[in-house]
Amino acid sequence: MHDDPARRPLDRGAHDPPEPFVAQANVTDPDLRSAFEREWPDCWARAGDLLEWERPYESVLAGDGETPPFRWFDGGRLNASVNCVDRHLEDRKSQVAIRWEGRLGETRSYTYLDLHREVNEFAAGLRSLGVGPDDVVTLYMPMIPELPVAMLACARLGAVHNVVFAGFSAEALAARMARADSRFLVTCDGYYRRGAATNQKNKADNARISLDHEVEATVVVSRLGEETHLGKDQYSYVDLLAAHEGARVAPVARDAGDPLFLIYTSGTTGAPTAVTHTTGGYLAHVAWTARAVLDLEPEDTYWCSADIGWITGHSYIVYGPLALGATTMLYEGAPDHPERDRLWRIIERNAIDVFYTAPTAIRSFMKWGSDHPERHDLSSLRLLGTVGEPINPRAWEWYRAHIGGGSCPVVDTWWQTETGAILASTLPGTDAMKPGSVGPPLPGIEARVVDEAGEPTPPGEPGHLVVDRPWPGMPTTLAEGGTLGSTHPARDDGGFRYVAGDEATVDEDGYLTVLGRVDDVINVAGRRFSSMELESSIVEVNGVAEAAVIGSADDRTGKAVCAYVSPERDRPADDDLRARIERRVREAIGPIATPDAVVFTPELPKTRSGKIMRRLLEDIANDEPLGDTSALRNPEILGEIESTIREDA
Ligand code: WTA
Repeated sequence: MHDDPARRPLDRGAHDPPEPFVAQANVTDPDLRSAFEREWPDCWARAGDLLEWERPYESVLAGDGETPPFRWFDGGRLNASVNCVDRHLEDRKSQVAIRWEGRLGETRSYTYLDLHREVNEFAAGLRSLGVGPDDVVTLYMPMIPELPVAMLACARLGAVHNVVFAGFSAEALAARMARADSRFLVTCDGYYRRGAATNQKNKADNARISLDHEVEATVVVSRLGEETHLGKDQYSYVDLLAAHEGARVAPVARDAGDPLFLIYTSGTTGAPTAVTHTTGGYLAHVAWTARAVLDLEPEDTYWCSADIGWITGHSYIVYGPLALGATTMLYEGAPDHPERDRLWRIIERNAIDVFYTAPTAIRSFMKWGSDHPERHDLSSLRLLGTVGEPINPRAWEWYRAHIGGGSCPVVDTWWQTETGAILASTLPGTDAMKPGSVGPPLPGIEARVVDEAGEPTPPGEPGHLVVDRPWPGMPTTLAEGGTLGSTHPARDDGGFRYVAGDEATVDEDGYLTVLGRVDDVINVAGRRFSSMELESSIVEVNGVAEAAVIGSADDRTGKAVCAYVSPERDRPADDDLRARIERRVREAIGPIATPDAVVFTPELPKTRSGKIMRRLLEDIANDEPLGDTSALRNPEILGEIESTIREDA
């Protein structure tokens, strides 16, 4: 098929937004960027005004907009659960808010009325257990509707949720609860993954036992439906609902800058980094981007196939779509289980309008072959999105042609846990799309690429991706004037700058292309791992002297985790050590962090001052010419490592 765009030579040719899409798009004003520029920061009232405020805000951004603290929607008070649930009752109480598909294809639907009832009952239940404003409630749950219900119930009470990805280990859960001083936990008995039931309650119990502080109450959702033993201070979710049947909980009004939730992510240090998002700024930013970038309408059935355990799920499965009153889809399981057409089946059966996924998934779909989507009617789709890692133009074209039938715009959205919401993307109704490039910064966002000296790079030159102005969805640490991650390269004039930790280029049209992380964060299949965090768990293994973890290039997942390990003197570097290393990483973090390769080496390459040179290890793993080795104390080790890798290969 010579006209298959995925097979055409790629000149990164731009695509204009398809006419029929433009005719109905939410944003069609080609001058929106300049309007935002002229009106900044008041332009962001367009986002704030998508919300219902219990007390209106006095200013869009208090202060001069240059110096912290940055108080978005200052003076305003609101409740996130009112915005995501109550206010939709008038127009669409019978519309489905959350539609869920389980591993066997079974479904559950919550209308806005159902959601309202269950959020209120569960909020009443949590309150009866002692949860109040500003308490941190940890939600250690898989993809079941009770997770968004619990998030919204916390929001109703002004409590701060702390969702921990269900696949994380007991240790990882305990670390996140300890750091957040979280005294409440909501979890489940277990859940299904590739047909097999996993025991979640065991992990939750182990975490609880290992904590130094008391967990006041644990609520357990029954997903597997088996009898679960409930110990002291443990409650069943359904019993708690039953005990509060029909209860109504008055929503607690929060200041715009009050925390809505916190989420841990992997930063450049060994320990997970907490990122706290605000009630007003965050919610306004996700609602606005769900409308302007994902083009969501209340009538839409929308599906983001991420996990709620990550920021993508918080912002674009739960808060964005529900704030707009749309129908949001959740699914349990995996894209290739029971069959490789699982996702296309879900799209067809639910007539999904807008679909948002990750490049890794798209690369898998390509590998599995276009016959899977071709067996299904995907004509309901209007727009496609991707997020999480760079997408190669070939995968982008495949996605557009085979999933979008050539008629859906594809938005490649750049953002992070720290940014809370999308900061760079084409606007699908106005901007031409260039495969592989995320597009310009969104209106009102001052994202740019700078060199080591902090000056803007010329087109095509890689540099640091930075954001030089505050944005509504910014986390509390930055809003208060603190720092997150690296501060290099800073601005000459000392003005606000957030250094994202990504490397990027910008072209003549102002389109950004994100190349990947420049720090010690490894992005595997759109999930973040910190080299330091992995290294510190590996060096705990008996027999390991030192470890360096890097990301090596991988066709499907973008990066693969490669661990270079030097054993203690006279200790064998054998399969037993390898197995113990893998086991330790699974215990400390979870199976998703298991290294793809463990390479033993008598020494690690180090500078004279003793710093491990990870860059050189990356070059070796990627079979690339070695960078500058002149600073090395032990350059001879590189040849040795290289031959070990080639032998193993
Ligand atoms: C990467 C996920 C290229 C980037 C929302 C960023 C991307 C990290 C894109 C954040 C994109 C995200 N193109 N790279 N469209 N979107 N990234 O915190 O390296 O899990 O720093 O947030 O993912 O990952 P996080």
